[in-house]
Amino acid sequence: MGGKVFIDLRAMKEDFLGEILQVVGEKKKLSKDDFHKLRELTQESFIWVEGELKEDPRAPGGRELHVSKVKDVRLAQQPYPIAKKEHSVDFLLDHRHLVIRSPKFERILLIREHILDSLREWYKRDGWHEVHPPILQFTAVEGGATLFPVKYFDQTAFLSQSAQLYLEIMIFSLGKVYSLTPSFRAEKSRTRRHLAEYWHFEAEAANYDLEDLLKAEEEPIAYAIRRILEDDRIREWVKEFRGDVEDLENIKTPFPRITYDEAIDILQSKGVKVKWGDDLGADEEKILSSDFETPFFVTLYPTKMKPFYVKIVEGDEERCYAADMMAPNYGEITGGSQREDNIESMVERIKKEGFDPELYFWYLDLRRYGGVPHSGYGLGVERFVQWLLNLDHIRDAIPFPRLARRKMLV
Ligand code: 4AD
Ligand code: MG
Repeated sequence: MGGKVFIDLRAMKEDFLGEILQVVGEKKKLSKDDFHKLRELTQESFIWVEGELKEDPRAPGGRELHVSKVKDVRLAQQPYPIAKKEHSVDFLLDHRHLVIRSPKFERILLIREHILDSLREWYKRDGWHEVHPPILQFTAVEGGATLFPVKYFDQTAFLSQSAQLYLEIMIFSLGKVYSLTPSFRAEKSRTRRHLAEYWHFEAEAANYDLEDLLKAEEEPIAYAIRRILEDDRIREWVKEFRGDVEDLENIKTPFPRITYDEAIDILQSKGVKVKWGDDLGADEEKILSSDFETPFFVTLYPTKMKPFYVKIVEGDEERCYAADMMAPNYGEITGGSQREDNIESMVERIKKEGFDPELYFWYLDLRRYGGVPHSGYGLGVERFVQWLLNLDHIRDAIPFPRLARRKMLV
């Protein structure tokens, strides 16, 4: 344009991530060769330039880079597969390795990292230790239906569904522990909030009852949200994704707590056909959580709905000390419980789930040899990100989604 070249640049420097920087090359200020290089650039080419950064309210982001020297150019082949038009979901997933370069994904990646930094910060400050449990496991945690078997020499192993049982071992060494690992679920249900591989932030602590645990869930989550709001850049991005951050500003601890029984009453009063003992699915949770403006807990679930490791309420066999955190207008983002300490009832429940209690000898040993009351939970990182950014589908909360019934290329 009139002796000037304008370039939209994704600058790979900290200050510019998640934004497009406008770059200007002026014919009269550049060597003939450099100006030519800028003019010949194709979409997605790499350039390395030197120049002066100037404030310019008309430029996106309020600044503009005026080039004085072109140091390197690598021209991108044309056409670039991702055009500025609507592509199908499948096409975009097949090109995830390129799509991930977009400012939208840069932002999601940075927000995700920010959240995990905050969680780590909170737990470290509160005296918890980060540990590294195994991914290849030989026992189920969350039921047989979602296990991924793996050939492991002459044994069959499973990809971890949860680090929980190993974290339970490690509290005997370190007291309060947490981990961030991938978890795998061969989920047949194709929903907007299920991945076959997701990142799981899990924590487990000795001498914690259910109420102690809920505090150690709500505080770090409220902290992560507060830190987002304190960071001008991240706050602005989150606002663009979700439209508003006022509701986030109003999130305070303690989060409301309702029992499963109360949740059923609320749903029935809204005309939802559920009865006591029914699992709450994505639809029910969404309806239930639309009544809330902050995250909240549903506690004391029916024993039969939860795995063998959840402690049964004394004097009430039907209910157990499990609690899920629900995010408003969304549903479950964490699952946790106080852990069972009664070996006999646990053995019975392991059998009922169709597993051989012998395989759980080590887990039962934790109760045999100096068992300690303890509790723990797991947060689905992508669920949290999906809710926070109001993403239509959980696949966009993770760079390389693993989705049931989709042939994965990337
Ligand atoms: O409720 P879940 O199955 O609980 C556990 O795995 C416990 N063993 C955790 C513990 O106590 N240490 O899973 C925990 C959380 C859920 O609340 C949800 O946020 C997320 O993990 N999650 C998934 N996220 C994405 N895709 C899936 N298929 C998920 N399944 C669970
Ligand atoms: Mg759950």
